[in-house]
Amino acid sequence: MELLNKIWDNARKVNMRIVLPEATEERTLRAADEIIAEKLAHPILIGNPELILQQAAQWNLLNIKDATIIDPIIHPKKQIYIDLLVSLRKHKGMTPEKASTLVEDPLYLATLMIKNGDADGEVAGAMNATGNVLRPAFQIVKTLPGISVVSGAFLMLLKDNPYVKDNLLVFADCAVHPNPTAEELAQIAICTAQTAKSIAGIHPRIAMLSFSTKGSAKHEMVDKVVEATRLAKEMALAQNIDVEIDGELQADAAIVKAVAAQKAPGSDVAGNANVLVFPTLEVGNIAYKLVQRLAGAEAVGPVLQGMAAPINDLSRGCSVSDIVNLVAITANQAAGL
Ligand code: ACO
Repeated sequence: MELLNKIWDNARKVNMRIVLPEATEERTLRAADEIIAEKLAHPILIGNPELILQQAAQWNLLNIKDATIIDPIIHPKKQIYIDLLVSLRKHKGMTPEKASTLVEDPLYLATLMIKNGDADGEVAGAMNATGNVLRPAFQIVKTLPGISVVSGAFLMLLKDNPYVKDNLLVFADCAVHPNPTAEELAQIAICTAQTAKSIAGIHPRIAMLSFSTKGSAKHEMVDKVVEATRLAKEMALAQNIDVEIDGELQADAAIVKAVAAQKAPGSDVAGNANVLVFPTLEVGNIAYKLVQRLAGAEAVGPVLQGMAAPINDLSRGCSVSDIVNLVAITANQAAGL
């Protein structure tokens, strides 16, 4: 909770413009109202203005009058966004005809607004599947220099956990890239180090997880994690990132001191890890959901990392407070905090 308070305080200081392309959806509109009341960001709502204002009146959301509302069908910058989309995607066969239809899609419009400097970040996904939120982001906003793969981290806020300092772990990738190569897994580790520092406010000690600890099993899946660990250390050194990384480690060796002493003696990370990087999306997604449900952890995220501007994706089962928190996190990312 202390962490979320800090994220909210930071968001208030920077007052970023966060676009919400699903503004006619009830939880999103309620979240926008709270975001304005709490001064966490300036929401830009995409949707039919008449419908948004009518719903706001019906649900007594008095702050919505202070949001910016953009009608995706008619607005003054439509031609600018059509031209921008054509210029960005011409090599992929984008024509003015296709672009003029796509810019009316709120998810495309939101990313074009960011690309054109008209918004600082985006939160969507209460109504749309992850792939539909991410595809326009990948195509238009793209990745940070030196990064080719976007991934998703969760801040796992645990309860009275005997193994984890401050009850906080960062997990990745739990949301985006199904089967990373060793090089991509190394990039995911480096991006997660940045998320751990900037959003979780911790010094990252990263365990590159596998079903093997320090050569206890032989398999090409283990080789991938060993190689990713080597590459991640190399990248951290080259980019002067203050982080500790070790692998391959099993989950118990990563977080339990007694197991670490037995299986990975001499490792600075084993037994002390606060960031867990999973070998595939399958593992990461299953792990975060099990820890959330079985250990009663609060899972904050996914915080998407590696994108050139912050765009975050909600679960369709999200609550109003999930949306509010993710907007605050997006504002922190947008301000480079
Ligand atoms: N990072 C950066 N760019 C990417 C990534 C990535 N991880 N994946 C694809 N791209 C880019 C491609 O390079 C391509 O760009 P281009 O058109 O400029 O060449 C564009 O995105 C489309 O690429 P495709 O390979 O066609 O990708 P596709 O659209 O089929 O899939 C997607 C991308 C949607 C993210 C897919 O990997 C996916 O569905 N991932 C799983 C998401 C998911 O369901 N997560 C679990 C639920 S989330 C939760 O539980 C919290």
